[in-house]
Amino acid sequence: MTALLKMYASENCRITGIDLVASEIAKENFNGIPNTFFYSKDLLADLSDLGKFDFIYCQEVLHHTNDPKRAFLNLVSLLDNGGEIAIYVYKKKAPMREYADDYIRSQIAGLSYEDAMKVCYSVTQLGKELHDAGIKVNVPAVEVLGIEKGEYDLQRFIYHFFLKCFWNDQFNFHDNAVINYDWYHPQNCTRHTLEEIEGWFHDAGLEITQSYVDFYGITMRGKKK
Ligand SMILES: C[S@@+](CC[C@H](N)C(=O)[O-])C[C@H]1O[C@@H](n2cnc3c(N)ncnc32)[C@H](O)[C@@H]1O
Repeated sequence: MTALLKMYASENCRITGIDLVASEIAKENFNGIPNTFFYSKDLLADLSDLGKFDFIYCQEVLHHTNDPKRAFLNLVSLLDNGGEIAIYVYKKKAPMREYADDYIRSQIAGLSYEDAMKVCYSVTQLGKELHDAGIKVNVPAVEVLGIEKGEYDLQRFIYHFFLKCFWNDQFNFHDNAVINYDWYHPQNCTRHTLEEIEGWFHDAGLEITQSYVDFYGITMRGKKK
């Protein structure tokens, strides 16, 4: 993400990347690239020593903190007047999918990587079998379960509305399992509604300039008045 920002920024623009644990990796990746700075920081801690920013982008981090709204407001406090912030957070999904996600996470969040991966291998095998079956299903809208009418590949149908069992033929089995692990293993993984995120922006005194919702997440951008 930092590389993308760097690509579109003017040459003398200073870009700062922060993460709880991954900043050293980024620092190595950017070794020698001017005007890029990386720090290990907790989004819930005092960040004032970083200075002020005219643009902040926070992708897929807030929902992994203990208090996503407080972490967001902490970032907003670093904006210059007229500065902008954009975030991406996970969206609340269909009720059965939410239930299964929470249940599986509760079963594996405390396990070691190896033991959690064993569980993820079985979930991945399920995703693969559903995909390999090559079945399409036509389903009616079932409002109480958040199911939208339409034709779905069987794996995608289960995936969207009942259980994350990721499978993509372009990756090998292990890499597919790691994607499922990445979803289920984090201790914190909150999901949010559009109204909730709009509320964060309003409470922070930001004008919402862009908002986009897909199956998985919410992207919102706002400007400090
Ligand atoms: C899904 S990754 C996203 C990484 C990166 N932003 C990206 O888009 O590629 C989630 C990241 O959140 C970081 N994280 C979790 N809790 C955090 C916190 N309290 N403060 C800062 N970073 C945190 C993790 O270390 C992890 O690198």
